Amino acid sequence: MTQRFTGRTALVTGAGSGIGRATALAFAAEGAHVVVAGRRREPLDETVTLIEESGGKALAVTADVTRAADLRDLVDATVDHFGSLDVAVNNAGVLEAGGQPAADIPEDAWRRMLDINVTGVLLALQAEVRQMRTQPGGGAIVNIASRIGVHGRIPGMTAYGTTKAAVSVLTRGAALDHIADGVRINAVSPGASATTMSFKPGETEADRAERMRTAVPVGRVSTVEEIAAAVLYLASDDAASVVGTDLVVDGGSTA
Ligand SMILES: NC(=O)c1ccc[n+]([C@@H]2O[C@H](COP(=O)([O-])OP(=O)(O)OC[C@H]3O[C@@H](n4cnc5c(N)ncnc54)[C@H](OP(=O)(O)O)[C@@H]3O)[C@@H](O)[C@H]2O)c1
Repeated sequence: MTQRFTGRTALVTGAGSGIGRATALAFAAEGAHVVVAGRRREPLDETVTLIEESGGKALAVTADVTRAADLRDLVDATVDHFGSLDVAVNNAGVLEAGGQPAADIPEDAWRRMLDINVTGVLLALQAEVRQMRTQPGGGAIVNIASRIGVHGRIPGMTAYGTTKAAVSVLTRGAALDHIADGVRINAVSPGASATTMSFKPGETEADRAERMRTAVPVGRVSTVEEIAAAVLYLASDDAASVVGTDLVVDGGSTA
């Protein structure tokens, strides 16, 4: 196994489940010290246990990405514990009001999604850049957007798609704003991936597999490890000249 992150510290938000947990495990497997963040303590502790059982080092910190103070404390805890913040993955996100046509999207769900998916990414990025630009090696940030923000074409996903398109644009703008600070910022846009988020209400795993067989050119959801691999590439020195890109990993859905 290549060890691209030995001696570096990676922070992952939303790391108690799904893509975030897989990304945290992948960083640890490549030598990083990992800080895992989210609102609920128990799933974060489970991620830490999985990392420690594989011989890695990790720290769980509860933080709500809609609160700037939580994010400042999160970055401070990272630096206090491991000495630096070299990589940050802004992965925390929610999907609400799926299936609702635009005219029927509840205002509170719309505002909550903007708050978590967009403002949460900006506030996290602000806390991360403030630390990274003080470090000799700078840092790398990867935001998690979505292929739904790249190509709408999914009825009933207007609210979620709007937030994810915003993450993609935020990524490009911030990347240009901060590359001179030594901070490289990119995004990954997953397509339907193997987490609870990609189930339709009431759907079983077999139902989802059948839906994906025709809906996605590769005929299946992406694994969380496939998404994590794209994140690690962008965060690594292999991507040293990749700045402000949005890497779509969607089994061909937007091709
Ligand atoms: N799965 C897919 O098909 C897919 C496709 C495209 C993009 N994505 C994106 O990938 C990311 C990960 O999604 P996933 O599929 O892995 O879903 P998931 O398992 O539901 O993970 C989302 C994580 O975000 C955390 N979170 C939510 N609100 C938060 C907040 N306010 N502050 C801090 N943490 C918060 C959750 O933990 P707590 O509830 O404990 O805070 C949870 O661990 C999301 O940004 C999602 O939009 C997913």
